[in-house]
Amino acid sequence: MNFTQIQFSDRKSDIDIIQLQELFNVAAFWAKERSVEDLQIAIANSEPVVTIRDGERLIGFARATSDGIYRATIWDVVIHPDYQGSGLGSKLVETVLSHPRMNRVERTYLMTTHQQRFYKKIGFQTNSTTTMVLHNQSHLGSLPTEQVQLQESFGG
Ligand SMILES: CC(C)(COP(=O)(O)OP(=O)(O)OC[C@H]1O[C@@H](n2cnc3c(N)ncnc32)[C@H](O)[C@@H]1OP(=O)(O)O)[C@@H](O)C(=O)NCCC(=O)NCCS
Repeated sequence: MNFTQIQFSDRKSDIDIIQLQELFNVAAFWAKERSVEDLQIAIANSEPVVTIRDGERLIGFARATSDGIYRATIWDVVIHPDYQGSGLGSKLVETVLSHPRMNRVERTYLMTTHQQRFYKKIGFQTNSTTTMVLHNQSHLGSLPTEQVQLQESFGG
C-alpha cells in the first residue's frame, strides 16, 4: 500500500462527520446508524480523538475519555476494511496512548467483543473480573431534588 498520503491527526476540526458516519456504518458493528448530532456530542466530550486520512478520505478513527492521571477508556477504534492489516490499527491505538491526556494514566480500559488478540499485541491484558455495565434508564435522568441539594452542599 502507498502510505505517502496517510496522515494522523488529533485535531477535532479535521473530522468530517459524514465520512465518520459512513466509516462506522461500514466497519463498526456497534456504531451503525449513529446520528451526526450524537457523534458531535461524543467527539466534543472525548480527548484525544485521533483520525487517519488517506488524502481527503477518512480511513481510521479512535477516541478516548480520560481523567489525565488515574483512569481512561478507549472507544470506537476502527480502520476502514480497505486499509486493515497494514499496521494502521496498532499505530492508531499507540497514537491515542501517547497523547498527553493518556500517557500518564495508571490504567487504560477498553471493551472489545472480537479483537482481544489485536489488543494483546499492543499490551492490553484480559480483565474479565472488574467490568460492569449500566444501560441508560430514563428514571436516572432526574435525581430527587433533596439528593441534588445534598450533593451541592458537599461540593460534589
Ligand atoms: C481491529 C482493527 C482496528 C485492527 O486494525 P488493523 O489495521 O487491521 O490492525 P494492524 O494491521 O495494525 O494489526 C496489528 C497486529 O494485530 C494483528 N491483528 C489485527 N487484527 C487481528 C485480529 N482480529 N485477530 C488477531 N490478530 C489481529 C495483526 O495481524 C498484526 O499483527 P503483527 O503485528 O504480528 O503483524 C481493524 O481490524 C478494525 O477496524 N476492525 C473492525 C472494527 C473493530 O472491530 N474495531 C475494534 C473494536 S474494539
